[in-house]
Amino acid sequence: MTISEKQQQLNKIAEEIKAFKGLEIAKNSTHAVPGEGDPNAQIMMVGEAPGQLENSTGRPFVGQSGQLMRKTLTETTGITPEEVFITNIVKFRPPDNRDPTPDEIEVCRDWLDRQINIIQPKIICTLGRFSMAKFIPDVSISRVHGQPRFVEFLGQKYIIFPMYHPAAALRGTTVLNEFKQDFVKLKNMLNPVSMPQNIPEEKPIITQPSLF
Ligand code: URA
Repeated sequence: MTISEKQQQLNKIAEEIKAFKGLEIAKNSTHAVPGEGDPNAQIMMVGEAPGQLENSTGRPFVGQSGQLMRKTLTETTGITPEEVFITNIVKFRPPDNRDPTPDEIEVCRDWLDRQINIIQPKIICTLGRFSMAKFIPDVSISRVHGQPRFVEFLGQKYIIFPMYHPAAALRGTTVLNEFKQDFVKLKNMLNPVSMPQNIPEEKPIITQPSLF
């Protein structure tokens, strides 16, 4: 698929999401938040659900925790937010920043699956436990953050890189330091700059990755 075909398909999904009124959180939202970024991105960042500022702007990760994520990404890896694709498990804001319900996650699942399938990134960074659980169920984020895994998803192999949610990093310096360290690991995974077309078969967990 060409980049412009990818962009067109992503736009179509965004229009579907914006027109959707099948959930209370969709009916009550000011703006749906489909996601944004490079349709050809090598890295996707997948968060939980939009917060207040995301709801009022229609853009993902623009509030306090989003700014931390965007700033850490660029300062640590040299990659700008425009070069990745940023989105969420749930595309509408749950009231009072409550956790998304299983039903909300399920209703939004197909949109995210299609976004991933169109972009086909090399690496999916999951931000927080809801996003991690989509690819790596039944693990604790405090144990597995910063450890990439190869996961087969919709017939494609992706590197899933679990990270803390930036909101958790804002709550304490220990998690903040680990959050920043994980971006250093992400940068190391990207070295050297050229990435092979086919990612080699690896054991499920790599502790010292040097993938490219
Ligand atoms: N938290 C998320 O998980 N996603 C956003 O877009 C903003 C805050």
